[in-house]
Amino acid sequence: MMKKLSIIAITFFTAAVIISCSDVKRQPGSVYVPDMAYSRAYETYADHSNLTEAGIFYNNQPVAGTMARGEELPFHLTKDAAGDTTNYTAAKLVKNPIDSLSAAEFKETERLYLINCGVCHGAKLNGNGPLYKDGNGPYAAKPATLVGDAKYEAMPEGQMFYSVAYGKNMMGSYASQLSRKQRWMVIKYIKLKQAASKASAAPAMAATPAKDSTAKK
Ligand code: HEC
Repeated sequence: MMKKLSIIAITFFTAAVIISCSDVKRQPGSVYVPDMAYSRAYETYADHSNLTEAGIFYNNQPVAGTMARGEELPFHLTKDAAGDTTNYTAAKLVKNPIDSLSAAEFKETERLYLINCGVCHGAKLNGNGPLYKDGNGPYAAKPATLVGDAKYEAMPEGQMFYSVAYGKNMMGSYASQLSRKQRWMVIKYIKLKQAASKASAAPAMAATPAKDSTAKK
């Protein structure tokens, strides 16, 4: 048995030596479609300058029009070129794909709002967060008064989404902090807060005539 095994082993070994020695290849063949042979996928913080030096275009951005895996709710409008407002205007017609928030979603969205937006727009959405502080804060630009200003109360959700996605004047883009779905949720949250403030203002207005001196006694 042992003898048989060793004969087999020696035969294979000899064959392997013959095969490997007979056809030594020190040069790999020329590579057809090198992008497929050598992955261009780079680590996030890796140095890409060698690609640029080699004349290969690489900008770290996803290919235009592609969607990340798991990404929901595409927004088809791209950012306007400086000075152009075509897509900003067109965004008015884009409907919010989220039409309501459950109690749990509302709570989560409030958390997202307070982390990302409240510092400027205020916890009460009155445009007076701690960074602005009536103009005494470190942030010079007046954030939009999201609740209490007719302009923003009338602003369509799609247009708000555009500004949150691409930025507006002094406000930057929140596209990398919040997913599209989270951005639409935050917009819905703003609209719900606007509606709630209107609803709580209404009874006060209804009570006014009683105190009105011109009212008939
Ligand atoms: C660093 C301060 C800052 C933060 C943080 C911030 N904003 Fe703003 N935002 C501003 C300023 C300033 C404006 C007014 C821009 C203008 O019209 O010049 C503005 C305007 C807006 C507008 C009106 C846009 C328009 O088209 O006129 C919306 C809606 C808005 N912000 C929503 C948000 C939301 C939602 C977040 C959080 C995801 C957020 N902002 C975070 C500063 C901020």
